[in-house]
Amino acid sequence: MRTKESADHPYSMGMLSKKVTCNSHGQDSSYFLGWQEYEKNPYHVSLNPSGIIQMGLAENQLSFDLLESWIAENPDAAGFKRDGQSIFRELALFQDYHGLPAFKEALADFMSEIRGNRVSFDPKNLVLTAGATSANEALMFCLAEAGDAILIPTPYYPGFDRDLKWRTGAEIVPIPCTSSNGFKITASALEEAYTTAHRQNLRVKAVLVTNPSNPLGTTMSEDELNLLVTFVISKGIHLVSDEIYSGTVFSSPSFKSIVEVLSDRPDCRPSVSDVWDRVHIVYSLSKDLGVPGFRVGAIYSSNRTVVEAATKMSSFGLVSSQTQYFLSAMLSDKKFTGRYIAENRLRLRRRHESLVAGLREAGIGCLDSNAGLFCWVDMRHLLNKYTFEAEIELWKKIVYKVGLNISPGSSCHCTEPGWFRVCYANMTEETLGLSIRRIKEFVTASASAATAPTYCSGSGYERRSHRQHSKGSSGKNKFLNKWVFRLSPLHRHEADDR
Ligand SMILES: Cc1ncc(COP(=O)(O)O)c(C=O)c1O
Repeated sequence: MRTKESADHPYSMGMLSKKVTCNSHGQDSSYFLGWQEYEKNPYHVSLNPSGIIQMGLAENQLSFDLLESWIAENPDAAGFKRDGQSIFRELALFQDYHGLPAFKEALADFMSEIRGNRVSFDPKNLVLTAGATSANEALMFCLAEAGDAILIPTPYYPGFDRDLKWRTGAEIVPIPCTSSNGFKITASALEEAYTTAHRQNLRVKAVLVTNPSNPLGTTMSEDELNLLVTFVISKGIHLVSDEIYSGTVFSSPSFKSIVEVLSDRPDCRPSVSDVWDRVHIVYSLSKDLGVPGFRVGAIYSSNRTVVEAATKMSSFGLVSSQTQYFLSAMLSDKKFTGRYIAENRLRLRRRHESLVAGLREAGIGCLDSNAGLFCWVDMRHLLNKYTFEAEIELWKKIVYKVGLNISPGSSCHCTEPGWFRVCYANMTEETLGLSIRRIKEFVTASASAATAPTYCSGSGYERRSHRQHSKGSSGKNKFLNKWVFRLSPLHRHEADDR
């Protein structure tokens, strides 16, 4: 029953927790709102050819045929069988939170193989989790108290606001990186973030980086990695390296994992430094193998206390035993993994080249990149004004009129308006071709119009479905205004005029 008090105070309504009613999940970000718009009007080649094309989802669908051929050739793995005999009962009952030893071994070997076998991973240091989402959160629970700070270079993966902050109470302090040097991390940006955290009375517990970067699609240079190691040694803090995209590196420079850098440095030898205990890797098969629905992730750490605590925490997000069984068979097939890794990289490279070339023809540039499932696209010249409001205005046009859901840089906490993350590996080649044509038409129409282009029903840009048409424009405008309003205060400020 609702009392007057509960009606006045939403937090006490129904005696719910603050977590349930607070806004720190980040669901209101344009990153997630774009997904919602796509869901309402998804493109389909024959059923809804004028629908929105999803380019805001970092999925890898380019090598499904390789996985499917392997399954066809190895029916036991997916059929709950070993040597032709059913092991259904064994799998239905097995659920030790340490994970299936054969799977941990296969996963550790796969991680080494992706790094050219230059480093090896000890399965004893692996903790299995339900995806990298769960791995990142569990690590935060291990490293930080509520109110402690984690430093992250910008722009960063929008999901981190949810994964690192929401349930743990940790705070993210951005390490501001800019286009002036290709968004590379500098010593002064690291110091600036550290000082900002101290000014806010936050204790800094770790730096977290994504290598290769989401959303930049770039691998970190050896200089950047060394800078980070030196920084965490000097501050006595942790370093988390989310290497979920390590298998997507399709051209030079090659990928260097943080453990390779540690192994190379004399000042990091375990006999002279405890830094190995403070460096942790997050991994997952969501991107490299393209199976985000299987929910397979991991923490790799040499710190026994972290491994033991995270293993206990993994009870809240285990990988199911049939998934572990299936993948241990697949990843132990070295002939398959070698071919898969090489072919997947080749396909990603070709996709990346088509998108970059198509955008170039439209007069749109991208940050030079060599990894990931997306490009970091520079549309600053298409802004009406150099502000985050103008970025959102442009984004709304691209979602509603052009029919492409891409992610605005502001959703990735980029400090400069006008950058967008555009995904290219979650669709067919034909759909990518169509999205490039839509962008080209949009740019041409924008350029030929003296003022902002007029979009009218029947033109090449009116992409809304009949369902949306029938809603009327006032409802739509109300919704759009809400989007802009919902952006974080940081993004409501105008950036410096160029
Ligand atoms: C950098 C980064 N970390 C973690 C995740 C979450 O991955 P998972 O599907 O394995 O939970 C993503 C997903 O996009 C990501 O880009």
